[in-house]
Amino acid sequence: MAETTQGRNLTVAMTGASGALFTAALLKLLDADDRVGTVHFIASDHALRVVGEELAPTGRSGLVDALLQAVGGGPASAKIKSVRNDDIGAAVASGSHPSDGMIVLPCSMGTLASISNGLAARLIDRAADVTLKERRPLILCVRETPLNRIHLRNMSLAADAGATIFPVIPAMYFRPPGLDEIARQFACRVLAHVGLQQSEAYQWKAGE
Ligand SMILES: Cc1cc2nc3c(=O)[nH]c(=O)nc-3n(C[C@H](O)[C@H](O)[C@H](O)COP(=O)(O)O)c2cc1C
Repeated sequence: MAETTQGRNLTVAMTGASGALFTAALLKLLDADDRVGTVHFIASDHALRVVGEELAPTGRSGLVDALLQAVGGGPASAKIKSVRNDDIGAAVASGSHPSDGMIVLPCSMGTLASISNGLAARLIDRAADVTLKERRPLILCVRETPLNRIHLRNMSLAADAGATIFPVIPAMYFRPPGLDEIARQFACRVLAHVGLQQSEAYQWKAGE
């Protein structure tokens, strides 16, 4: 684990698949989590387009605040550092950068294809490639339906290389009061996979 006195380092990427509310919920939990020191946040160009459709039109510089605002949070603390997807020389592009893992939420089928085939041309793909080669947790929250055989094959390739395929398929058995809670509980499940169990995560208890 790359935990330092400043806390854990995570990379969060957002791509142009549906589900901006889920990214927003994840960033809000990370922003509030004292165990987390730094979050490198990378959004693809198409992520911005989807945020515009699903939440509100925003520029790249205002993206994190817009996401946090959508789930009743923000403004963002300094721990969330936005990095451009074309900055292939950013810290997270190197395995020498201490990192505790990477979450891609949501992960489009295009980005899945790039990662599973090792293209590494954009920072999101390169950071994921580095995460795999350094044997660190890589959580790919894929989002598409239905799935074609190319999608299935690419998921299988990524899983074989060490990624966790974590589809954006929310639970309903805790009777969520609304979309925000659905997104928040999904984000809690994702964070448990990078060792950040959340105290407010719903836990199923049989018979209750
Ligand atoms: C409103 C909107 C919703 C989209 N939803 C999805 C989706 O759920 N899954 C997906 O794989 N692509 C989706 N796309 C298409 C991707 O944005 C597109 O394939 C893009 O090239 C992905 O690029 P990126 O991976 O660099 O973000 C959507 C596009 C738009 C405009």
